[in-house]
Amino acid sequence: MRLINVCGARPNFMKIAPLMRAFEGVPGIEPILVHTGQHYDRQMSRLFFEELRIPEPDINLEVGSGSHAQQTGLIMQRFEPVVAESKADAVLVVGDVNSTIACALVAAKLGVGVFHVEAGLRSFDRTMPEEINRVLTDAISDLLFVSEPSGIENLRKEGVADGKVHFVGNVMIDTLERSREQAERSAILEDLSLSAGGYAVVTMHRPASVDRPDVLRGLIEAFGEIQRDMPVIFPIHPRTRKQMAEAGLDGMTAGMPRLRLLDPLGYLDFLKLTAHAAVVMTDSGGIQEETTILGVPCLTLRENTERPVTLTQGTNRLVGMDPVRLLEAYRGIRNHPPKACHRPDKWDGQAAQRIAGIIADWRR
Ligand code: UD1
Repeated sequence: MRLINVCGARPNFMKIAPLMRAFEGVPGIEPILVHTGQHYDRQMSRLFFEELRIPEPDINLEVGSGSHAQQTGLIMQRFEPVVAESKADAVLVVGDVNSTIACALVAAKLGVGVFHVEAGLRSFDRTMPEEINRVLTDAISDLLFVSEPSGIENLRKEGVADGKVHFVGNVMIDTLERSREQAERSAILEDLSLSAGGYAVVTMHRPASVDRPDVLRGLIEAFGEIQRDMPVIFPIHPRTRKQMAEAGLDGMTAGMPRLRLLDPLGYLDFLKLTAHAAVVMTDSGGIQEETTILGVPCLTLRENTERPVTLTQGTNRLVGMDPVRLLEAYRGIRNHPPKACHRPDKWDGQAAQRIAGIIADWRR
């Protein structure tokens, strides 16, 4: 089977890494790697290929940034001839970014198989671009690989045939488990003069949190309060950096000496940083899962999550974007650190192997 594997944006890289490794070992699967170029800065892309030893992409579509329609449309235009000319039998997509839906749609219309890794997650919030990408990708997929039980339930309710759905666990955790030891050797704590357990980490990049100046201002004010108590390390996504500058919020952080704004970090430095944090505050999806396995309290700056297992079994709590609620939750954690969490079912580092086994047996 000639199988095109698609990645495009930062959170895709840790998912595609264990899959490429698993496919290399399966006779009968011929993997091809396509990078759409949705993310292109070294810190957002290249660095992850080096650290996670992802093979060089066979093809880079170099689409770059743009509006949703521009980005999605350009990926489709450039991906279509790749699928046709390579005579691929199937296309595998991961996650919920614009590259995911764009390539799935091209493949479905060319009549080749579509495999979706991280299927079935639902925030039930259609204002999130990712939710639209998830629903549409799942609707046209032939194999749906689910990371947590909520995914099975959601797909059943949407009428997806049970036979297409496979509960395989979480490929992002495959990468975390494989990288933990190596990440421990990162010198990021020394470089930033931090002591284990003595600092907080923030990440934020979603339109809902960073595209509205009043919301962004409120959150930065809350981080300003927290940095009085402990250092707050904030590696900034390019989108957030741009929005802060445009909203004239850059100056705000001048009076917050322990709020440390950094460029985006590589995977290993970031894993070490989160593994030893007192608390993580984030609007990311993947970080809710990683903190669950690391046992580090996570305050999610959103009103909903498509990853409910991180709430029921993990360390995650939804606090929304109201600074008062965030500070209350922060103080709650300071006073009563949460108890250890459970490891969700099948988050055991073997998800990619399970997926490779199922794909090897797939026939249209
Ligand atoms: C995308 C995903 C989001 C994911 C996030 C992780 C979609 C709809 N969203 O959001 O689900 O959580 O990636 O990062 O696919 N930029 C750079 N350099 C880069 C990439 C982006 O400077 O390498 C800047 C550009 O100004 C760009 C902006 O970031 O306009 C947004 O990038 P884009 O790919 O549109 O979406 P993300 O916000 O990164």
